[in-house]
Amino acid sequence: MEQEQIDHFRRRLAFTDTRQGVPEGYPDFPIIHPGRYIDQRYFDLEQTHVFRKSWLMAGHSDQLPEPGCFKTWDRVIGEPVILFHGKDGQIRAFYNICRHRGATLTNKPYGKVRTLACAYHGWIYDNQGDLVSIRDQRDFPDFDKSCYGLKPIRTEMLGKMIFINFDDDAEDLRTSLGQIGKEFMEDYAFEMTCVVEHDAWVAPCNWKLLVEGGIENYHVRTIHRQTLPNYRENQGMHTLYPGGHSRDTILQEGLKDEDGLVLDGFVRRHDAEVLLDDHEDDRPMNPRLNDLANEVGFIYSTHPNMQMGPFYSRGFVVSCYWPTSLTQGLHEFYVFGYGDAESAKSVFWPRDVAQAKAVLNEDLDFIEMVQKGIVSRGNMGVKLGYLEARLQHLNETLDRQIGIENIPEDLRIDQVIGDEWIWPNDIARYEAEMERTNVAREAAE
Ligand code: FES
Ligand SMILES: [Fe+2]
Repeated sequence: MEQEQIDHFRRRLAFTDTRQGVPEGYPDFPIIHPGRYIDQRYFDLEQTHVFRKSWLMAGHSDQLPEPGCFKTWDRVIGEPVILFHGKDGQIRAFYNICRHRGATLTNKPYGKVRTLACAYHGWIYDNQGDLVSIRDQRDFPDFDKSCYGLKPIRTEMLGKMIFINFDDDAEDLRTSLGQIGKEFMEDYAFEMTCVVEHDAWVAPCNWKLLVEGGIENYHVRTIHRQTLPNYRENQGMHTLYPGGHSRDTILQEGLKDEDGLVLDGFVRRHDAEVLLDDHEDDRPMNPRLNDLANEVGFIYSTHPNMQMGPFYSRGFVVSCYWPTSLTQGLHEFYVFGYGDAESAKSVFWPRDVAQAKAVLNEDLDFIEMVQKGIVSRGNMGVKLGYLEARLQHLNETLDRQIGIENIPEDLRIDQVIGDEWIWPNDIARYEAEMERTNVAREAAE
């Protein structure tokens, strides 16, 4: 992050601590129709226009570390995918579909092969997706194997994270992430990460409720009182980025023991000496975490379904939320550390992973309760406040991505967030708000 921005955020942080209301001119959010969460028509539009047209996190290169390694992936309904680490060292995604009669090639979650044979009639593909042989080729006159490789899916890396996009015409990943993609690489050293934990659990709710549970902090002081006791969420501040991406800046003092050492969560840089059962915490640290990110917690959400952060010196959590049906979602959970596979085995990780999961479990209970309420005919719609602006931003972006004219009128959300509240335009608005508030305060004194 550039120094100018860091300076602005520091001023805004100080101001946020004393703010008395929402910034002047900030939009009032309209009621959101519950049908957006329970109507099959909206769900189908999301499937077509969002999940088949966005960059989606499909894994981490540590999951397929050597040439020949593969990982199958079926997070998007009806689209079986295989990620292959080719003999040329490149990671590519393909449809996991045989070019003969369309059987899925393999259902194994992971594996390592030089070639992969379709179990049905034995067509064989190499780890770069090329068809290398077929049985009884004499019965396929003029057959050109080079025309029958696996169908590729666009694949791009962000450090060691693998992203795919089913849309051949989509803009590239870095362009679509814009400023936050730049921050990920500059400040969080994605190329140095290792997988500490990878897990997933089913949630009986629409996928958007899972995302939305992760992108507002209004609930923290009510439901996470035990797990995040020192969280000052009412002073939290958000930034909305183009493309539906957003970021929350949270202020959290870690629980400290009598020597002032942080006891909970991933330790921060200045707490590197913290001990656990007499082990020194020698996990590698992010060498590029800027001082601001080290003091506060930055949590990003990337459109449409991923949340990253908070970013600590030792690592960070990544959550992806997937629709498995209209009324069921999947929460995919990663913890990334820094360093190699050895550092991912540190005795400090189970504590941090358990802490992160405990917080997310609390969310799950309430998300299920929201699902119960949202299907009721008694539900009059969703009313959001300022601290929930990222939900409005997500929903407005979904509608624009789908094409507002494609959405039944009663299921649309009003587009109320003007460009002036989207980064970087918001910087001038918040600077003006701070100036206005200071003048008013001085006049009152
Ligand atoms: S479907 Fe794969 S070889 Fe026939
Ligand atoms: Fe939460």
